[in-house]
Amino acid sequence: MCGIVGYIGKNNAIPVVMQGLQRLEYRGYDSCGIAMMNSDKMILEKVTGKVEELQGLLARQKMSSSVAIGHTRWATHGPPTISNAHPHTSQDGKVALVHNGIIENYKVLRDGLISAGYEFSSETDTEVIAALVSQAYHGNLEQAVREALSYVVGAYGLAVIHTDEPEKIVCSRKGAPLIMAMGDGEFFVASDVAAILHYSKDVIYLDNEEIGILTPDGVKIYSGDDEPVDKKIHKITFNLEEIEKGGYEHFMLKEIFSQPQTIFDAMRGRLLPETGDAHLGGIDHMIGSILHADQRYFTACGTSWHAALIGEMMFEQFARIPCEVEYASEFRYREPLVDAKSIVFAISQSGETADTLAAIQEAKTRKATVLGICNVVGSSIARETEAGVYIHAGPEIGVASTKAFTSQVTVLSLLTLKLARLMGMSREDGLEISQAMQKLPENVEWVLKQADQIAEIAKLYSDASNFLYLGRGVNFPVALEGALKLKEISYIHAEGYPAAEMKHGPIALIDKSMPIVAIAPQDKTYDKIISNIEEVKARHGRVIALATEGDTRIKDIADHVLYVPAALSFTAPILNVIPLQLLAYYVAVERGCNVDQPRNLAKSVTVE
Ligand code: AGP
Repeated sequence: MCGIVGYIGKNNAIPVVMQGLQRLEYRGYDSCGIAMMNSDKMILEKVTGKVEELQGLLARQKMSSSVAIGHTRWATHGPPTISNAHPHTSQDGKVALVHNGIIENYKVLRDGLISAGYEFSSETDTEVIAALVSQAYHGNLEQAVREALSYVVGAYGLAVIHTDEPEKIVCSRKGAPLIMAMGDGEFFVASDVAAILHYSKDVIYLDNEEIGILTPDGVKIYSGDDEPVDKKIHKITFNLEEIEKGGYEHFMLKEIFSQPQTIFDAMRGRLLPETGDAHLGGIDHMIGSILHADQRYFTACGTSWHAALIGEMMFEQFARIPCEVEYASEFRYREPLVDAKSIVFAISQSGETADTLAAIQEAKTRKATVLGICNVVGSSIARETEAGVYIHAGPEIGVASTKAFTSQVTVLSLLTLKLARLMGMSREDGLEISQAMQKLPENVEWVLKQADQIAEIAKLYSDASNFLYLGRGVNFPVALEGALKLKEISYIHAEGYPAAEMKHGPIALIDKSMPIVAIAPQDKTYDKIISNIEEVKARHGRVIALATEGDTRIKDIADHVLYVPAALSFTAPILNVIPLQLLAYYVAVERGCNVDQPRNLAKSVTVE
């Protein structure tokens, strides 16, 4: 969602902060700004729109500073205007502050300050914190920040500077991510490692309510109780190339094409094709608890929720153990039947999704064991869960999740295989499944070779206003994911449906302007799906069918056929989603959309 970058040190802070903001652009934003110290004067610049506009503005001013904090904003309170953009300053102009998250009690705090004579210049919740820091300031910024935060209810990751202590940045977090990093005579604060990776790989992850202080001499961290904390320094192992485009036009395309490798990475050392089994180091010690739990839940949002639906079907079909899926945003409001005998899996690419973190808290409050399936190492969800499995997909930059989805499903498949073998799946069946999984990277390569054909089909349908995606069984969540991808990046309305449900309502929408994507592999539902396609054709709908390699019958009915290799239902979702990712991508490109940073969306949604 929003991005924070701060710098203090021997070099000019402005290019460092601006480059950091640019690296965070992928997270989505609508305005940006920077505050810097110039001797003991505060200088503030903000724009609506792109970081490069702010960069141009600063370049014309030829300024230099050794201390600066910057921000990219994704509007929550108040529209994207210059006055609502961060940094926010106090009324006396001495405090500047950047903030991610949401202050839930801001209205009460704001009204209280207004009745005491304070004048606000924005509609944001953030400005309230700047005001509180200013009022609590008596010569020590960290103490003022601590006091201000004691009044605040909500989530925050923030960085603050004050003109009376021009060589200091104070930062803190609760429920929104924040890291500090160390270089040679220079120190950084950021909401995402990607922002500072060019300068430092030595990173400290701040924990909730900790306060970090950055000066030209180094960094100090204090706990919520004001005790000094000795934090571990983590060495970041991925490099900048991994978060660059590598010759592809968009990150999303690069990420789609990296899936043979990322699926392989998710399975590496975990799939045991010789014995038809799997092992998952991070949670092997919990397998007994998973098997014997009274309830099992998956909770997640968006694409990760679709992966969870596939996990649920696989758990039930292959391991024969029941399990429920719940949107993380609904989990805590539905009084879930979760207790000390429950296992809750939280699935998240970013590991920072606020709704998923809130669901984890709810499950923990009810004494459940919470396990994570996460991509970002060291993320909040990775740290908040008792144990877990990393999907090892590497940094995902495109806002529309692609490779993380297939890696999540890969990990869920491995977990299912492990559980199924313990629940009595035969060695022969285990061998068949594990060998099919081993062939996944090669089969995904095969599907990717159809990119040009998919691009041609996309040209024919890029002017559609609506799309319907149909799939049955494990391909229903795949249909949901295909529809989500299309609407996210091309702004075409799209819906996923279980194919047979079409005749219970959506069939009314079908006419010659309505493209239908039908996932129709040669499995036990094949004949039924063929009938559904016939029903569409009878109403002049246009059908793009996803079919098993060698299926000639479907060619006579569908307008276009995209082939995938024959697959077990265990591996089918991974293969079937790839053409849908490509279709969404090429339609969006054809429509001239900003594929990597779609409007209104953010890479990790750190507000509830
Ligand atoms: C995916 O394309 C979306 N951008 C979005 O639905 C995403 O999957 C959701 O916000 C959950 O994110 P997470 O996996 O990082 O928790």
